Amino acid sequence: MWNELTNHRATVADRKILSLFDDADRAKTFSATFGDLLFDYSKTNIDSTAMSLLLTLAEQANVAGRRAAMFTGETINETEGRAVLHTALRNLDGGPVMVDGADVMPDVLATLDRMEAFATDVRTGVFLGQGGQITDVVNIGIGGSDLGPVMAVQALTPYADGPRCHFVSNVDGAHISDVLAPLDPRTTLVIVASKTFTTVETMTNARVAKAWMADKVDNPAGQFAALSSNLDLTAAFGIDPARVFGFADWVGGRYSMWGPIGLSLMLAIGGQGFRAFLRGAQSMDRHFQAAELHENLPVLLALVGIWHHQVCGYPTRAVLPYEQRLIRLPAYLQQLEMESNGKRVGMDGQDLEVVSGPIVWGEPGTNGQHAFYQLIHQGTGVVPCEFMVGAKGHEDDLSHMHVLLLSNCLAQSEALLRGRSLEEATAIMAAKGLEGAELDRQARHRVFPGNRPSTTLVYPLLTPEVLGQIVALYEHRVFVEGVILGINSFDQWGVELGKELAMALEPVLTGEAGTDGKDGSTAMLVETVRRLGA
Ligand code: F6P
Repeated sequence: MWNELTNHRATVADRKILSLFDDADRAKTFSATFGDLLFDYSKTNIDSTAMSLLLTLAEQANVAGRRAAMFTGETINETEGRAVLHTALRNLDGGPVMVDGADVMPDVLATLDRMEAFATDVRTGVFLGQGGQITDVVNIGIGGSDLGPVMAVQALTPYADGPRCHFVSNVDGAHISDVLAPLDPRTTLVIVASKTFTTVETMTNARVAKAWMADKVDNPAGQFAALSSNLDLTAAFGIDPARVFGFADWVGGRYSMWGPIGLSLMLAIGGQGFRAFLRGAQSMDRHFQAAELHENLPVLLALVGIWHHQVCGYPTRAVLPYEQRLIRLPAYLQQLEMESNGKRVGMDGQDLEVVSGPIVWGEPGTNGQHAFYQLIHQGTGVVPCEFMVGAKGHEDDLSHMHVLLLSNCLAQSEALLRGRSLEEATAIMAAKGLEGAELDRQARHRVFPGNRPSTTLVYPLLTPEVLGQIVALYEHRVFVEGVILGINSFDQWGVELGKELAMALEPVLTGEAGTDGKDGSTAMLVETVRRLGA
């Protein structure tokens, strides 16, 4: 099927996407809806032949079978011997989910209730710090124990009516130092978010926070909570089991914000808001499970992604939310996609037949327009763009600004599609009085090749429910891409080597060990930082 796709792509490579709109039904045919979400992929070079080949690819990869295996708790994370059931965390009223013959839902729902009771106590002043009501929460975590909550807390600012939430992730002492500086430890709750409770960055930051707390608070551990599946280590850290919220090994780090790792979000927006977020995701799970592949949003997103990256060979994908509060979404999606599908071998350990997942990057519009869109419009490479925008903003008194935001978003995809020809550019510059060689030279700089693919996801308003839908949509998209590539999207062995070498370098940097066996560059870098840092 890859060959058929590549051959078809070769036959349509020079076609203008705009010409596809000669078919008056194109927008309708090459878009899909779920509830109030609209996914428009008509501004791509995908035609009905490409789509039917892509759908066959999905069928041949057994997307439906793997999907069922995931939802029913089979051990699809084969290299770690685990089921993959983050969907159970949002299965609010979906009935039993069996893992190894046991229903996991009673535990999941009981933990959710316990989180909610704790969050309510903090929010209403039943749980107090030494200085009274908790005003600030510091979530210490990294990767999947950070990116989801940071992104969602910021995204849902209009719904935040609890303590202020702050996030510390980097092992750079500057991060925790800057976050803690303005806070009063006596009214701060520290959450240590780490599935393993062994991650060096998180545990180092947690110890710094504990010392900071101990300076002003008699029982510092009393103002700590932990989100982890390693209950022995949370106890050794001194955290009361009543404030430890655990989760099973079938929840991967980057898929974990739906359970205890989402506690900071729950503290910010309350239990009801958090449940609405889960319900949104659950509704997307149901759509993903039930909709036919050709109208299944996660499947369509995946197929568009496969077309652009594996078939057309475009190396990156830009995610461009026209929603300032989604400023951390690109970083969140970077981990989701690149940690999941950045693999060089398939499930069977053999080299992949095609390239692995794409590089994902992005920034909110309109800011990006004044920074990197230049390259997207006129650079020599093609960057498929994934726009997303809410039909409405929360600032009713600033609705004129939202119209501007919307018009910019829609204009960008239109500009990428249409471009501007040399004739058009020449006419514009001639109207400004230019002529001869200078007219030609100036006009050439103003040509936009156009014919650059983009998709647009429109949602009504960024509520907790809609955010849940969007995140689950992308999670399942990554899953489908992984299935088609034959990848295990749920392990991350590629992060291990760097961790091991960092551990080994620590004593070299402190002078306790020498640079023997290090390559020349590393030895020089060690020597330089030791000399400059002395
Ligand atoms: O970077 C690797 C990784 O394991 C991520 O997958 C994970 O989200 C992150 O580290 C944090 O892990 P933990 O929650 O165990 O501290």
